[in-house]
Amino acid sequence: MSAKEPLVRVEHLNVTLGGNPILKDIDFALYPGQIHAITGENGAGKSTLAKVIAGIHQPAFGTIYLGENPVQIRTPKEAIRQGIALIHQEPLIFPDLNVAENVFVGRLPKKASMTDHREAIRRTNEILQQLGVDIQADSEVGNLSIAQQQMVELATAMSEDAKVWIFDETTASLTSKEVSELFKIIRGLQARGCAIAMVTHHLNEVFEIADTVTVLRDGAKIAERKITDLNHDQLVNLMVGRDIAKDHLSRTEDTPIEPFIELKNLTGPGFKNVSLTIGKTEIVGIAGLVGAGRTEVARSLFGITHPTAGSIIKNGETIYVRSPKDAQRQGFALVPEDRQRHGLFPNLSIEYNTSANILGASSTAGWLNAKSMQNKSLAMLEVFKTVFKNIGQPVRQLSGGNQQKTVIGRWLLGNPDFLILDEPTRGVDVGARREVHQALRTQADSGKAILVISSDLAELLTLTDRIYVMNGGTIVGEMATRDATEESVMALAFGGTE
Ligand SMILES: Nc1ncnc2c1ncn2[C@@H]1O[C@H](COP(=O)(O)OP(=O)(O)O)[C@@H](O)[C@H]1O
Ligand SMILES: [Mg+2]
Repeated sequence: MSAKEPLVRVEHLNVTLGGNPILKDIDFALYPGQIHAITGENGAGKSTLAKVIAGIHQPAFGTIYLGENPVQIRTPKEAIRQGIALIHQEPLIFPDLNVAENVFVGRLPKKASMTDHREAIRRTNEILQQLGVDIQADSEVGNLSIAQQQMVELATAMSEDAKVWIFDETTASLTSKEVSELFKIIRGLQARGCAIAMVTHHLNEVFEIADTVTVLRDGAKIAERKITDLNHDQLVNLMVGRDIAKDHLSRTEDTPIEPFIELKNLTGPGFKNVSLTIGKTEIVGIAGLVGAGRTEVARSLFGITHPTAGSIIKNGETIYVRSPKDAQRQGFALVPEDRQRHGLFPNLSIEYNTSANILGASSTAGWLNAKSMQNKSLAMLEVFKTVFKNIGQPVRQLSGGNQQKTVIGRWLLGNPDFLILDEPTRGVDVGARREVHQALRTQADSGKAILVISSDLAELLTLTDRIYVMNGGTIVGEMATRDATEESVMALAFGGTE
């Protein structure tokens, strides 16, 4: 087979699941030495495509070719026999078996009709070494980290001599260091002439590792491009099907805004001489590099730390925010940067997570309020278009985007006048991000003042009306968002001398 022949190819692929058409007329091919990203929003059909190639689902219509031969891949076993391996987000392993037994499960080497454990261990160690991973073949798999368990899956595929490797959101539960180790292995497979498909909705990963990208939307193939022919915004536009860059959600009216919250030369731990204003119905952004002092300003505004000089003015009157409780009494709310640590109760229900802040307020009236509280929670979940099965399920079962909607919604349920959000959509997929932005704009329109700290310039340009730029603990510039560009904001954020 010449290098230009695909190892595997699907043509006019249609897949129906549970009576619903899921994939529509997809043509897709994987070539030796190629890393092909498959991307798209949640539910676009990425995993389904991966599963068809790996023999888990059958096409309703269309053909799969291995090389030039049309084939049917009826089971995952058949797929692996044909050299096709699917690596899952959640590793499929037998926790009570050791690494070698996992790698060779069902096909342990034999010697004189006895299982040859020693040979299994020897061969497994050889493969692990080849992969460059530091795991012992005789360790029990249940004791390994997720990343290491994933390596066991890789070792299994390697032992089967897989030529086509499909990674389905494999990086989702890995640390960034583990991701780079995985990428190193993937590049090694590429160098050996394997064909690789990487399912991911992390665009930075697409640009880091892939040479080609296929975009799915609602089960259809929207585009296939060389990575070098695309920039980040274009890829986002392909994924969501609209031009995000032109999607500025600013106030529609240009009526003047009275300052509602004013900071005058506010100085405190990590920042100095910060002056800014935020009006009702206005969304104001603070841009800047990590460490510029943005989060510190938010923490002082919310009474977590205390300013040493300057003033905070609300509605024309100087106020003192002594504690977060005090801040809440003033009608302030802060959605913190790191939701996993500060915002979320992962094992408690969606209902609890949505209503935690108002529980105290309604408990005085007793259990009779339970129903009205649930209704309020449901209404807030609706505002954000939060996707969930039922309000009693643990919030950790939701996707990152829906978890974030829950946290923001909880703070809004307290009906604050002034909402501060620190990195509101970090780690949230593009679709959910859009919904968070729209809900925040609706909240501003209803009369709230909103301050958004974000390291994501695209977010600030989409969402805000005005942008302040911080650098070295102080404000170095201010501009109307409609006059701002990524370049003008970055120049201020980096340029320490102005
Ligand atoms: N076994 C199934 N039965 C019915 N519908 C399914 C099944 N698996 C997935 N779907 C639906 O198919 C669509 C695509 O799902 P999936 O391929 O998992 O998307 P992605 O991986 O891009 O998030 C979704 O709408 C999902 O609800
Ligand atoms: Mg998926």
